[in-house]
Amino acid sequence: MMRMSCLITVINRRIMKLLVALGLIAYIASVWGTYTNMRMIQEHNELKIEQRIDEAVAPLREKIQDLELSLTQKYPPVKFLSEKDRKRILITGGAGFVGSHLTDKLMMDGHEVTVVDNFFTGRKRNVEHWIGHENFELINHDVVEPLYIEVDQIYHLASPASPPNYMYNPIKTLKTNTIGTLNMLGLAKRVGARLLLASTSEVYGDPEVHPQNEDYWGHVNPIGPRACYDEGKRVAETMCYAYMKQEGVEVRVARIFNTFGPRMHMNDGRVVSNFILQALQGEPLTVYGSGSQTRAFQYVSDLVNGLVSLMNSNISSPVNLGNPEEHTILEFAQMIKSLVVSRSHIQFLPEAQDDPQRRRPDIRKAKMLLGWEPVVSITSHYTAKKKNPMPDVNVDSDLKVVW
Ligand SMILES: NC(=O)c1ccc[n+]([C@@H]2O[C@H](COP(=O)([O-])OP(=O)(O)OC[C@H]3O[C@@H](n4cnc5c(N)ncnc54)[C@H](O)[C@@H]3O)[C@@H](O)[C@H]2O)c1
Repeated sequence: MMRMSCLITVINRRIMKLLVALGLIAYIASVWGTYTNMRMIQEHNELKIEQRIDEAVAPLREKIQDLELSLTQKYPPVKFLSEKDRKRILITGGAGFVGSHLTDKLMMDGHEVTVVDNFFTGRKRNVEHWIGHENFELINHDVVEPLYIEVDQIYHLASPASPPNYMYNPIKTLKTNTIGTLNMLGLAKRVGARLLLASTSEVYGDPEVHPQNEDYWGHVNPIGPRACYDEGKRVAETMCYAYMKQEGVEVRVARIFNTFGPRMHMNDGRVVSNFILQALQGEPLTVYGSGSQTRAFQYVSDLVNGLVSLMNSNISSPVNLGNPEEHTILEFAQMIKSLVVSRSHIQFLPEAQDDPQRRRPDIRKAKMLLGWEPVVSITSHYTAKKKNPMPDVNVDSDLKVVW
């Protein structure tokens, strides 16, 4: 009996121990479960907080990246010029078509360039790749107002150049070319700078001499719709020579013939951009008059090289800068149509008033005295393309001629 009760006690103790052990394990498991649950919740919350912080910081990070980028911004390669060779150059109208290419050339040559522009037809984006460069400055200024800066050379290009632009406000065109030029000549006189005037083949008007050389005095209608520009440039030339004779200012006068190239305004109404736009949009290419009037187009890089070489020469009399490769407007329309592979047809409209009938520069002077001549031919691309001619011909009975 005694033995029996001892055995039962031993068994009870073992069961008790087992139960206590199981209870302990269950407790530990529940504590662990709660702990891991809490941990998960905590981690989840931490993740959410981190996410929120990330979201809040992301724009700041982007801004810092932008700032770092702007500090290490890559500019086009610029030559190093010693102090003695580096010039301080002002380009008025430097944010325009020709001016921006001239800016590129002079910056890459290692000069300090200040562009002055009122952004009438020019655009900041034409020179934005230089903004922030230590050699470059962009000033929003109208040349009709005086300007006081220290420079060694002035390329005076400020003036609307395409007929719709200069006819838009003829009085302003006259003021820009007269008062603006007087202001720049005054500046040149004050600081002893050399000034190059971007004159134009329009000073020859509707010429009776062909091709036009620099000795020809021109045939301009002084009261026609183009007079604000033509006469404005003629008097600008007169002012240059008055300042040269009376005040000893060093002047250079470039008579620029039609120029084309990148950064031309698509909508500025010049014939090349007009035709390209119309051909791309499948609209008729509008030719004013019979299309037999001629023009000669030079590529902008040729012009820029000519301007720089004229500025640095000792030739103070006017010099023609243009490409003598002459074509009729109709030929240009066909060329562009073919290059764009466009199905547009050619539409003839009434002749524009005072539209010059023939235009071709005589560039013997530039060749002889500057050693300059254009190297980009407008027809080289066209002739290459002609080997693969356009197969289609459009028919449109409403129009006079259909190509
Ligand atoms: N592109 C040509 O085929 C051509 C032919 C002959 C002459 N030019 C002459 O070359 C120069 C540049 O012509 P472009 O084709 O580059 O024309 P553009 O219109 O692209 O450039 C002219 C620039 O002058 C600026 N400007 C105009 N009025 C101004 C003012 N009052 N103050 C400050 N800035 C002013 C414009 O905003 C623009 O940036 C012009 O003087 C033009 O007469 C050009």
